Amino acid sequence: MFQLKTRIIEGEGSLKALSREVKGYERVLILSSSSMKRHGFLGEAEDYVREAGAEVFSVTDLPAEPGVETVEELLPKLREEFQPDLLVALGGGSVIDTAKALKVFYDAPEVKFEEIAFIDRFSRPKPIPKLKTPLIAIPSTSGAGSEVSASSVLKKGEVKYNIVSLEIAPDVAILDPRLPRTMPGEVARNSGLDVLVHGIEAYTTKAASPFSDTMAINAIKTVYRWLPLSVKGDEEARARVHYAATMAGIAFLNARLGLCHAMSHKAAWIGPHGLLNAIFIPYVMEFNAERSEYARRRYAEIARELGFNTAKDLIEVVKELNEMLKVPRLSELVDEETFVSKVEEMANKAYRDGLIPFNPVEPKPEEIRELYLRAFYGR
Ligand SMILES: NC(=O)c1ccc[n+]([C@@H]2O[C@H](COP(=O)([O-])OP(=O)(O)OC[C@H]3O[C@@H](n4cnc5c(N)ncnc54)[C@H](OP(=O)(O)O)[C@@H]3O)[C@@H](O)[C@H]2O)c1
Ligand SMILES: [Fe+2]
Repeated sequence: MFQLKTRIIEGEGSLKALSREVKGYERVLILSSSSMKRHGFLGEAEDYVREAGAEVFSVTDLPAEPGVETVEELLPKLREEFQPDLLVALGGGSVIDTAKALKVFYDAPEVKFEEIAFIDRFSRPKPIPKLKTPLIAIPSTSGAGSEVSASSVLKKGEVKYNIVSLEIAPDVAILDPRLPRTMPGEVARNSGLDVLVHGIEAYTTKAASPFSDTMAINAIKTVYRWLPLSVKGDEEARARVHYAATMAGIAFLNARLGLCHAMSHKAAWIGPHGLLNAIFIPYVMEFNAERSEYARRRYAEIARELGFNTAKDLIEVVKELNEMLKVPRLSELVDEETFVSKVEEMANKAYRDGLIPFNPVEPKPEEIRELYLRAFYGR
């Protein structure tokens, strides 16, 4: 099965489509982070909403890598002050994920995070009820794919958990390449490597289909060819990687993700999501390729699309890309004592992550622990 709920509007200047999309709504809340205000996109979006005759409210300072607290703090304002009939998320994956979670608790006040989040794959969360407030997502990074995905990833304490339901998949995504052009190189790199990992993991899960494959392969090829240029600020490259991010989002919306994302979600306290994925992915690929004929074959297929041959080649290509883009080592992000003291707990939590059943190989907790340690010591 393959599905996509979101209507996608793309192109230079497509932000202006907002004025058409908000027609008929009365109270529009735009959720954003500080760069969107600083670069003028929030002001522009507010103008489009006003032009359409709606009242506009804005939140301008949402944090990166959000936690449940951010959502809890904002909820009373939504309920008592803004009372929006339409939500617009203008920002990176962090802003879009915050908007998705807000939508759940705004529309369904009886629901609790612990009940609906995928905390543990051995116990099913409660289904999310039907939600009414529509959501328009306007990504400003080229990474998470949250503008089309059915997930919202939130930190609770040091660890990230997923809420998954088509109810929170955005109704409309507006992909205007002007937005990601203001990303600093480091944000372009981190979010762009997340796209690569989305493509590789979605192509190799147990739920992959010819339809998700097409999206995944296209995204992988685009990132491989264009990300180094995009990181340098090339305008054409920024546009290409922007669309690739959404394609990878469509791939994993359907095919889901695997062990690498399970590991990075449980290591969320260490650093940005895309960077952690980039660090873990070569180790995860080696692990999968050693144990699964299917994984080896699928990695080799990706390798051939990029002009190489084998699974081993692909692992090398990914490592070289990391080096070229100066991805730091895990040991540069966290000290040994802190990391080692948490590795057991991270491995146990990753083992219970809801993405594990989609990975081509089911790892044991001690194998995940070993992978974390190998990534830390670079061996
Ligand atoms: N829902 C899903 O399906 C899904 C999938 C993968 C990852 N994720 C989640 O998404 C989050 C990561 O999202 P992301 O990689 O898109 O990054 P992000 O965390 O949304 O953004 C990173 C930083 O980039 C800055 N920024 C964003 N757009 C910018 C622009 N156009 N110009 C200048 N600065 C800009 C922001 O700074 P300011 O604060 O200054 O604006 C922000 O601090 C993680 O929490 C991850 O877990 C979700
Ligand atoms: Fe991701």
